[in-house]
Amino acid sequence: MVAIDGPSGAGKSTVARQLAARLGFAFLDTGAMYRAITWHFLQNGCAPAECAGEADGGQARMRAALAAARLRLEQGRQILNERDVTAHLRTREVESQVSAVSALSFVRAAMRDLQRQVASAGPVVAEGRDMGTVVFPRARWKVFLDAAPSERARRRSADFVRQGRQVSEEDVLAEIEVRDRLDSTRSDAPLRQADDALYLDSTGLTTDAVVLRLFEFVRADAAAAGAVAGGRA
Ligand code: DC
Repeated sequence: MVAIDGPSGAGKSTVARQLAARLGFAFLDTGAMYRAITWHFLQNGCAPAECAGEADGGQARMRAALAAARLRLEQGRQILNERDVTAHLRTREVESQVSAVSALSFVRAAMRDLQRQVASAGPVVAEGRDMGTVVFPRARWKVFLDAAPSERARRRSADFVRQGRQVSEEDVLAEIEVRDRLDSTRSDAPLRQADDALYLDSTGLTTDAVVLRLFEFVRADAAAAGAVAGGRA
């Protein structure tokens, strides 16, 4: 298990996907799972912003919607109640609500179970905010991937341009800062670096360079473990 955590726009998904392919591991994008549930809440009219005025803040309706959600991952696609929702996960509506949804403990508990179930099937590169700290605290390799906020905003803006969306880098930076604050200050599983994680700042580095660095990190440690096992045998 390789557990990669870090803030929005640090390049975790691209790096984790390529690293997984190189290692021959499965790839688990846990942010996409939170996005899929957020999309599902929006479809059911019970996303946090939509039910803020309700006595329980919409908790009962969200719990019912979550109970009715069957989420599974198939070759990198998010399948929700037998519908492929992958193309709907990067909209601004989802993005504006996903931090609030991912702060809900009952949502996190359900996602945690699903993530562990996926990982029990074989070697995985999993990326998110709490992989090394909460979901897979015993992961063999932990990485905290960071980058300067301005670089993260530039990368996210480039993503948006590729999707045909025009958003100013300033707006993206402001949204990233809000999301970082929400993700790192929530009470349940806030974003933070695990004590035993490798810290890597990808500012100014290409994706290839980051993937290579992590591949070497895994390979060197695996080789050392092999040598120890061999020496003992
Ligand atoms: O990595 P991303 O931008 O796709 O993540 C979307 C949101 O999901 C992000 O704001 C924080 C949340 N998230 C989380 O709380 N825990 C995870 N393991 C992964 C993502």
